[in-house]
Amino acid sequence: MSTAAAKKTLSNDAYDVEAIRADFPAMSLQVNGKPLVFLDSGASAQKPSVVLERMDRMYRSEYANVHRGAYRLSELATENYENARKTVAQFMNASVDEIVFTRSVTAAINLVAHSFGRAFLKAGDEVVISHMEHHANIVPWQLLRDIMGIVIKVAPIDDDGNFLIDEFKKLLGPKTKLVAITHCSNVLGTITPIKEITRIAHEAGAKVLIDGAQGIVHLGVDVRDVDCDFYGFTGHKLYGPTGIGVLYGKRDLLNALPPYEGGGDMIELVTFEKTTYREAPARFEAGTPPIVEAVGLAAAIDYVNSVGLDRIAKHETGLRDYAMKRLGEIDGLTIIGRPREKGPIVSFTLEGAHPHDIATIIDSKGVAVRAGHHCAQPLMERCNVAATARASFAMYNRIEDVDALVDALNTVKDIFG
Ligand code: ALA
Repeated sequence: MSTAAAKKTLSNDAYDVEAIRADFPAMSLQVNGKPLVFLDSGASAQKPSVVLERMDRMYRSEYANVHRGAYRLSELATENYENARKTVAQFMNASVDEIVFTRSVTAAINLVAHSFGRAFLKAGDEVVISHMEHHANIVPWQLLRDIMGIVIKVAPIDDDGNFLIDEFKKLLGPKTKLVAITHCSNVLGTITPIKEITRIAHEAGAKVLIDGAQGIVHLGVDVRDVDCDFYGFTGHKLYGPTGIGVLYGKRDLLNALPPYEGGGDMIELVTFEKTTYREAPARFEAGTPPIVEAVGLAAAIDYVNSVGLDRIAKHETGLRDYAMKRLGEIDGLTIIGRPREKGPIVSFTLEGAHPHDIATIIDSKGVAVRAGHHCAQPLMERCNVAATARASFAMYNRIEDVDALVDALNTVKDIFG
């Protein structure tokens, strides 16, 4: 596919990428004297002006602590914060009382590990994860294993990075209490069949937690349809601010769990002898929450909805296909991860050049990619690589960004011979 042909494919649905780029101040940055080509949205996405402006407005004229003040400004802040919860709930097809605001998806997974884990798991019980998990969905279970003696089982993938559903099934048994699986691998881009995984896990009597850090950005999620018990995601990859994450949990399950952190706002009554707790989500939001960050996330979701998640996904898929094709034409370049269902994430190695060198050299051309183990060291080992370079695409990327990446990689090849 030529650049022109690729552009034509992408323009079929009248997706106006230039108009979208104009909404993101970072898209007009110059880096190292070159226009920024930002291909690291998998690590953190850039922010549209509407998010920045919404947060600025709240700090300037609508800000106070929430749930505490019997005065107008605090009531206004509370309304904004709780409306943000509504926006998130609608985005996931959940109820408002099933949405817990956390600091990050890492915090959401740790909440489940420690609250659900300590209350419902005992020594010998099994948690099933996959070989593609980010450290955030490995280490919390290891911490719990070290405290409680649970057993971690790892569902395998094939050499292309496909999740092996039949092998996964074989791991499940009466001791399986939780299945914790990524929606989309941050390295291979593999999209996992979360609805089928959930159905199979439920048949085995296990609960299901989905790590949606990468998945929700490209695919969205309907938690009622998937029927998962927990789903976590983070705001900053969804064009929102850092410092805000979400844990969706089924209402009855959340209310059956003990609090994870203790503090203000999550209690009904405190005496020195005994404390009683509010219902979810309040019982999981101890202390002053990330108020403005939640409002910023809601603004980001409104923005994504206004463009249309389906249209964004179609655009990103076009970029991914074009990138796979063009990168595949470079001699000595190996794409790591060719699963059947793949998000807009392309990891690769280049013969003779360390991924960190690749990232540094192409940065001098203004091209930003992530290099390293991507917080997925067991997956690196499975793929027989120490590290990869990774290009990840978002709603504001364009065909020319892929061309710039390819040109920059040819410079790397020239340097390393
Ligand atoms: N989890 C983020 C990434 O994949 C930071 O880059």
